[in-house]
Order: sequence, then structure tokens, then C-alpha cells
Amino acid sequence: MGTQSPAALVPLDQVLRKALEPLQLQAEHKRIRLAVDIAGDVLTARGSPEQFKSVWTNLIGNAIKYTPSGGSVEISLRGGKGRVVGEVRDTGIGIPREAQSQLFTEFFRAENAKAQNIRGTGLGLAIVKQIIQGAGGHILVESEVGRGSTFTFILPAAEPPPE
Ligand SMILES: Nc1ncnc2c1ncn2[C@@H]1O[C@H](COP(=O)(O)OP(=O)(O)O)[C@@H](O)[C@H]1O
Ligand SMILES: [Mg+2]
Repeated sequence: MGTQSPAALVPLDQVLRKALEPLQLQAEHKRIRLAVDIAGDVLTARGSPEQFKSVWTNLIGNAIKYTPSGGSVEISLRGGKGRVVGEVRDTGIGIPREAQSQLFTEFFRAENAKAQNIRGTGLGLAIVKQIIQGAGGHILVESEVGRGSTFTFILPAAEPPPE
């Protein structure tokens, strides 16, 4: 831990916009509609900008990867009541119930993802969970096979000092 730089105030909306640039192209190529909704007063959390960017990249990248062409991915970021809530919702293949509790374990991949020959390492969500927990937050998944998935992370909001 000693070598890490101290947690900075990170504007999660700006980090999201940066993460989105390459992902928007991926979505276009696959004909997936991407919608982004950002609202709230305090959208700042304490942590590392690079790590928060990788949270967005992993969650949105998964949503695009596990959603067939013609589907949609909706991203939202909301701040209020001392929390910042990020959500990535897709209309993709979904995750079997028995797999949902294992998704955040290193190298775990659900059977339906493997059966469809969608490639992956099973590492992204383990990293995402580590980053979110390291920043004092938590992450949840809700999903139904064949209908889609929603990943939600909740972080303590960090009020920037007045100018
Ligand atoms: N949006 C999603 N829709 C359906 N399945 C998903 C989604 N995100 C993750 N998964 C499932 O969780 C597993 C772990 O995800 P992840 O750690 O990102 O690994 P990878 O994408 O490299 O396989 C995936 O292999 C897949 O089975
Ligand atoms: Mg992944």
C-alpha cells in the first residue's frame, strides 16, 4: 500500500466520458445503442482516476460484449445523499442465477458465455470489485438469462472543497 498515491478527488462523470470514447465505436460497429444519463450534484469519489476509468471500461465493455447486435446498453451516473451510484444495464444474454454470486471471483466465467464462444479471461469483474471495495463502496448484479443484466456500484460521495 505504501507506494500508492493518496486517494484523489475524482470526477466520475469526466472519467466516464473518457472511458466512453473507444467504447462508443465498439458499440456502433456491433449496432448496439448506447445511452448515457448523468445527473446529480456531487459526482465525485475518492480514489484513483485510472482505476475508476477501468471500472467503467470493464462494465461497459462487458455489456457490449455480452449483448447481441440490435440490443442496447444504458449507463447512468447519479449523485445524492452522500453517495454516487453508477449503473450499466444491457439487453444481453444474461447470467444464470447460480453463476451470479461467483462472477466477481478471478477466472470465473458463466457457462452461457462460454457456450456462445464469447472470449474472455474472467478477470475484469474481480478487478472491478477490488477497486470499488478499495474505495469504500460495493457492487451488485441483477440479471435474467435471455433478458439482460444490470451492474450497479455505489461509492461514498466526496464533496469537493469550495473554490
Ligand atoms: N453484461 C454481462 N452480461 C452477461 N454476462 C456477463 C456480463 N458481464 C459479465 N458476465 C459474465 O461474468 C463473467 C466474468 O466477467 P469478467 O470478469 O469481465 O470476465 P470476461 O469478460 O473476461 O469473461 C463473464 O465471463 C460472463 O460469464
Ligand atoms: Mg470482461
